[in-house]
Amino acid sequence: MASISLFLSLLLVYWSMAMASTDQASTSFIRTSCSRTLYADLCYSSLSPYASQVGHDPVLLARFAMNVTVGSLKPLSSYIASALRRTPSSSSDQELAALKDCSELISDATDQVKKSEREVTGLEGLVGTQVTWRIGNAQTWLSAAITDENTCMDGFGDGSGGAGEDVEMEVRQKVKRAEQHSSISLALVNGLVKHR
Ligand SMILES: *[C@@H]1O[C@H](CO)[C@@H](O)[C@H](O)[C@H]1NC(C)=O
Repeated sequence: MASISLFLSLLLVYWSMAMASTDQASTSFIRTSCSRTLYADLCYSSLSPYASQVGHDPVLLARFAMNVTVGSLKPLSSYIASALRRTPSSSSDQELAALKDCSELISDATDQVKKSEREVTGLEGLVGTQVTWRIGNAQTWLSAAITDENTCMDGFGDGSGGAGEDVEMEVRQKVKRAEQHSSISLALVNGLVKHR
């Protein structure tokens, strides 16, 4: 009886060590992949929680990056809608228009990143031109999302005053973060080209 429970606890220790080293190998894979993006620290901190699922799979890593990006974009539409309600009535028409444009641009960007995630799903099972085609589509969707995010931020002008400026700064910061996640996703998708 005692030897069985000793055996079981040794097995458990061995198993958790094996799991820990799998995670460690994967986190260093993630760190290396992230070092090739413009925002290595943000990339690593947002993707290392998925290490055990990602393993050493560059396609999965890119897919998780895109889902993280969607996660940063999705709440922005409702955030902007509520920001519009909080915007002082003394705000200029231009400030209100910028926020409204943003709300549309951000919802487009969300769809584009989702489409991109679907393009690379199942890439492992494809060959040749199908792979190039899918990666190309994903790159196009992600670039479009980044353009939309930048257009949204540009709409806020130079920040030289105005009643709604606090709200604009907040939105701009959140969009900037989403744009960084999009840029990370694009870099990881670009990296898929040479894995094929
Ligand atoms: C990303 O999100 C989509 C939609 O929720 C889901 O189908 C997909 O499995 C997710 N991808 C990963 C890698 O978790």
